Amino acid sequence: MATATIIDGKSFAARLRTGITAQITQLKADHGITPGLAVVLVGEDPASQIYVRNKGRQARETGMNSFEQRLPVTASQTELLACIAGLNQDPAVNGILVQLPLPKQINPEAVIEAIAVSKDVDGFHPLNAGLLAVGGAAMVPCTPLGCLMLLKDQLGDLAGKRAVVLGRSNIVGKPMAALLLREHCTVTMAHSRTRDLAAECRRAEIVVAAVGRPEMVKGDWLQPGATVIDVGINRLPTPDGKGRLVGDVEFASAVEVAGAITPVPGGVGPMTIACLLLNTLTAACRQHGIPVPEIKPAAE
Ligand code: GUN
Repeated sequence: MATATIIDGKSFAARLRTGITAQITQLKADHGITPGLAVVLVGEDPASQIYVRNKGRQARETGMNSFEQRLPVTASQTELLACIAGLNQDPAVNGILVQLPLPKQINPEAVIEAIAVSKDVDGFHPLNAGLLAVGGAAMVPCTPLGCLMLLKDQLGDLAGKRAVVLGRSNIVGKPMAALLLREHCTVTMAHSRTRDLAAECRRAEIVVAAVGRPEMVKGDWLQPGATVIDVGINRLPTPDGKGRLVGDVEFASAVEVAGAITPVPGGVGPMTIACLLLNTLTAACRQHGIPVPEIKPAAE
């Protein structure tokens, strides 16, 4: 049986970062502007520390300034809001990201709403969500933006395609559906209460799985030739205790039916930080009234 094209998100993200680096060099030369990204980490969650370190390192590698703000796990919401207010005021900071999850004494909605809309490089502020829905100049959440780039690279024009988004989170599912609609897809949103998930999937030429359920989507849920974007990152236990990363799609069966599929790891994951850097560059240009350059991934 035919096997699917494997969509190499790791390579695409690296080429995207090369394109971003070139544009930042240009921005410095033409306008004397160095984009700045501030990442705020509250507490010492090990996974969050790794994410924050990677975001800072990749920002510096593309020529941006990276600012890291750390608050203790006991920090109050008032302290975090004061930190954000300072970053909102700081002209050297073009993008602000508060690493989630936050300790339980802090309300994440209040924190997200405190970030200046123009510096909200996560695209989580309700005003950015609204701008995306009505077709304005939103900051678009990084993971769905990365998924869309991989889809357009694979398929070209998406107009008229039937797409199913599995999952309705504010971070992935809802903005993903809005982006696909903006590309003129016919979009179905499916979720835990959907009556027949497999049947909904089988109708789709594009499947984006973002439910957080390991290997839920099976090969026989797919239309032959479908393009499958797997956003899931789930760790399954293994006898050696290290665990094995799997997506929301059962890769072994899906690869036999799909036309193209993202692997886990190495698919969507690397695109998220690359799109964060892209959003920071976009934010810097908009804040300075400079046209936002079209970033193309560098040639392979
Ligand atoms: N924690 C895990 N993923 C993310 C993300 O994309 N943004 C933020 N702010 N926190 C996260």
